[in-house]
Amino acid sequence: MIYDKPIAELIERRFSCRTYADQPIAAQTQQRLRERMTSLGAGPFGTPLRFELVAATEQDRAALKGLGTYGFIRGAAGFIVGAVGRGAKDFEDYGYAMEALILAATELDLGTCWLGGTFTRSSFAEKIHASSEEHMPAVASIGRVANPEQARRGLLRRLTQAESRLSWEILFFDQEFGTPLVRESAGRFAPVLDLVRLAPSGSNKQPWRIVKDGETWHFYIERTPGYGKGLATRLLGSKSEAFPDIQRIDLGIAICHFDLASREIGVMGTWVVEDPTLGGPLTEYVASFVV
Ligand SMILES: Cc1cc2nc3c(=O)[nH]c(=O)nc-3n(C[C@H](O)[C@H](O)[C@H](O)COP(=O)(O)O)c2cc1C
Repeated sequence: MIYDKPIAELIERRFSCRTYADQPIAAQTQQRLRERMTSLGAGPFGTPLRFELVAATEQDRAALKGLGTYGFIRGAAGFIVGAVGRGAKDFEDYGYAMEALILAATELDLGTCWLGGTFTRSSFAEKIHASSEEHMPAVASIGRVANPEQARRGLLRRLTQAESRLSWEILFFDQEFGTPLVRESAGRFAPVLDLVRLAPSGSNKQPWRIVKDGETWHFYIERTPGYGKGLATRLLGSKSEAFPDIQRIDLGIAICHFDLASREIGVMGTWVVEDPTLGGPLTEYVASFVV
């Protein structure tokens, strides 16, 4: 997706907005967002997907809790809902594409919040006529930010308060896990990695781990013990079966930030799935960016 503003600006401005101005989105803005949605037919790993912008009803707002989402969403004008076909990298593709739309919404001065849960059999699935062959692992609330001044102050706090994100030495590695990547060795990719660090993730767990291997960057999940299925079972009981793999969505989001930011520094890489077998028992290989 092409943006008018620098991608760093959009990534830095995005935050999880949970309180909205309770006003509809202007028709022209809706139109621009819908155009962005129709331009997305598949993720970087080729899974077909589609999105729609729907208006929020009172029932939708109330239904969210029963679907495994957390946090209280107030006054959202609508939701971005999407459906993805089944494939080896379906959740990663969904994470990538939805985040690309969220950044487009940010460019249009709208607030958004990712909401992960079991949407496949909900009223949200009816709105997009999801078939049994499709997953709906997350939606995003969307609307005008209730208090832009507070959002601006929040941005400053987020950018200066490093503790809301894990440090470089926990996230990024040089050639092998165990050797943290220092900024100088990241070279022109250092600002790209800074933008990966600002990616949203379910419960802010930041499960992304990246190993630099020459010009190639390998992406892994470090799973959070007790998160995902364990959490879903606690929240949803028997309905937890359909709970999506949120941490694979998180990886798709990190891959989106890396992809868009590297394009902006003029690097056009490709994504391949060829496990270099560098991972340890704690990590799961996802994909590599090859220049
Ligand atoms: C896949 C996914 C699912 C999420 N689900 C929820 C949710 O159900 N409720 C919520 O309030 N926030 C949700 N979030 C937002 C995260 O809590 C948020 O991204 C994280 O705490 C970092 O904060 P920030 O987005 O403001 O940078 C989700 C984020 C992701 C990526």
